[in-house]
Amino acid sequence: MILIKLGGSIITNKEKPLSAKRKIIDNLAKNLKKIDESIIIVHGGGSYGHYWSVKYDMHTKEKKYDLRGVAIVKNSMIELNKIVLDLLLKNKLNPYCLPPTDFMSGNKPILKKIQEIKKIAESGLIPVTYGDALWFGQKKTYILSGDKIMTHLAKILKPRLCIFALNEDGLYSDLKSKKLIYELKNERPSISDNKMDVTGGMTRKVEEASNISKIGVNVFFVNGNKPERIVKAIKNGKFEGTLFRRRNV
Ligand code: IPE
Repeated sequence: MILIKLGGSIITNKEKPLSAKRKIIDNLAKNLKKIDESIIIVHGGGSYGHYWSVKYDMHTKEKKYDLRGVAIVKNSMIELNKIVLDLLLKNKLNPYCLPPTDFMSGNKPILKKIQEIKKIAESGLIPVTYGDALWFGQKKTYILSGDKIMTHLAKILKPRLCIFALNEDGLYSDLKSKKLIYELKNERPSISDNKMDVTGGMTRKVEEASNISKIGVNVFFVNGNKPERIVKAIKNGKFEGTLFRRRNV
């Protein structure tokens, strides 16, 4: 089984509020169609969920955020999710829509539900979930990022590979020259990323990736604009991007 995160920066135009990159999603779907292993898709918020969570000052920390913000973030994520689902359907894939409320209780994943997601994926359906604003308890809510969902799923399901489709070729050791890091074993890269967003941008992604590799799962950062690289990684074990090599556990 493969977990794939479609980052908000690849499926939406982050510069422009509420704009999905339909052509890119369509192209991703076309390539995902070539994969015959079971997959689970997680997508980010980009210029939908992120846009509104910034407006309403909502973050990953559990707090009493503006209820209007919670409602609007959730609604915008449904809208983006619908675009993703429609394009998967159009490309003859069979997505199975799973809002995160289906398998999260507060900030904890529901074990039984997550094990069920595995069965759903193995049946040939493609579970599709996304980062969202979630109820925590005691009138508090929080933003659950798609990256965090990847860690929750990976810990329980131990997929063969976790893929993060980004709007870049992978991780760069130097942002100016865009020198790509091909492989990381154990070491934690220093991130000179200042483009932070509500869920922590690239820094958070690297943190989740290194958490996942620690539990014995390979993590691959790849350019989602070149979706054939996703197929090559899955089918031929050719990694054109950054591979966080799994640790032996
Ligand atoms: C975003 O999830 C969730 C919301 C802001 C509602 P992510 O944090 O995974 O989104 P991207 O991929 O960084 O846009």
